[in-house]
Amino acid sequence: MAERTISFARGAPSADILPHEGVREAATRALESDWENALSYGTGRGHPGLCEWIAERHGVQPEQVMITNGSMEGAALLFRHLVSAGDRVVVEQPTYDRTLLLLQQAGAELVGAPLESDGIDPATIEAACAEGGVRLAHVIPNFHNPAGCTLSAEKRSRLVKLAADNGFILFEDDPYRLISFDDAQAPTMLDLDGADRVIHASSFSKSISPGVRVGYLVGPADQIATFAKRANEQYISPNMLAESIVFEFCRSGGLDENLKVVNAALRERRDALVEALHKYIPEAEFVVPAGGYFLWLDLNGEGKVDSKALLAQARMLGVTFVAGPDFMLEGGSSSLRLSFAPVPASDVAEGVARLAQALDQVREGVPAR
Ligand SMILES: Cc1ncc(COP(=O)(O)O)c(C=O)c1O
Repeated sequence: MAERTISFARGAPSADILPHEGVREAATRALESDWENALSYGTGRGHPGLCEWIAERHGVQPEQVMITNGSMEGAALLFRHLVSAGDRVVVEQPTYDRTLLLLQQAGAELVGAPLESDGIDPATIEAACAEGGVRLAHVIPNFHNPAGCTLSAEKRSRLVKLAADNGFILFEDDPYRLISFDDAQAPTMLDLDGADRVIHASSFSKSISPGVRVGYLVGPADQIATFAKRANEQYISPNMLAESIVFEFCRSGGLDENLKVVNAALRERRDALVEALHKYIPEAEFVVPAGGYFLWLDLNGEGKVDSKALLAQARMLGVTFVAGPDFMLEGGSSSLRLSFAPVPASDVAEGVARLAQALDQVREGVPAR
């Protein structure tokens, strides 16, 4: 076993790019100027100041926003109240494994829609709608987890129109939007929606830190009011202390400053990963992610391998990742997700070299012990 494992597995940044000084200062200020809000129960909607700040960033009314303990809690709330057993739900393939888990727990009938290099093909949703009963489509528009791709502007418009025409809910799960390595940004589907069919989820997990557990939903005011009431019944209010700190961090300009640091570091990691893959595993196919945390590697061509067998071998050599089947309803056996967020650029080439060695061993039939 190699000395120190290099992990491309976790969808979380290494600690060196977490803004601990900025958050500490924001916490001090929050407890000076906003301590009553921070230390009290709130409503199901969360911190009013942060709701307003988010509403302004999205160009919506504060009544259209609710804050949750991470966007995953927002998704769970939404699925619990909008999806009933037997409802058909379109999911991208591959997609975020926790989304699959929650929808399976809700008893949804999942319809897989393959991803292309510019995101989901709207024709597959159209075909599912023609068969009837589509209640919701879950789409990760920017720097996809796990696929790394970004939905084109043209496809965004088509999806919004399809949702309006067919009456399904378009759940725009968008935690990576601000983790962008260039200036080009397509509009959100929330921006394009004129029919109240889009519910948008986002989060400060990637733009500040996953530990703050502050995410949010934006959607039609009546829908949000219902979710906020359910949230209040279930857990009274989300974490007001965390929200007060996040609010202070954001309104003082800390968010934009932090994004510069985080995006520069992640871009460097992405570049190192792409370069190392070209060098050590030139046969691998992938979309170069323009932001976010993830790169999806396909080893379908010549020398095709089983990614679970590869993972067992890779662990022996001191490198890890997540095997493709975890993100699929079926298949994905020769794909894998590499997260560059936790790996400092200086470790990336060594990690990929180990992966390439594991790949050679699997192809040669060397058993993992
Ligand atoms: C697509 C997607 N949605 C939601 C989440 C959950 O994020 P949060 O930390 O805001 O709960 C993640 C986290 O990795 C994600 O990748």
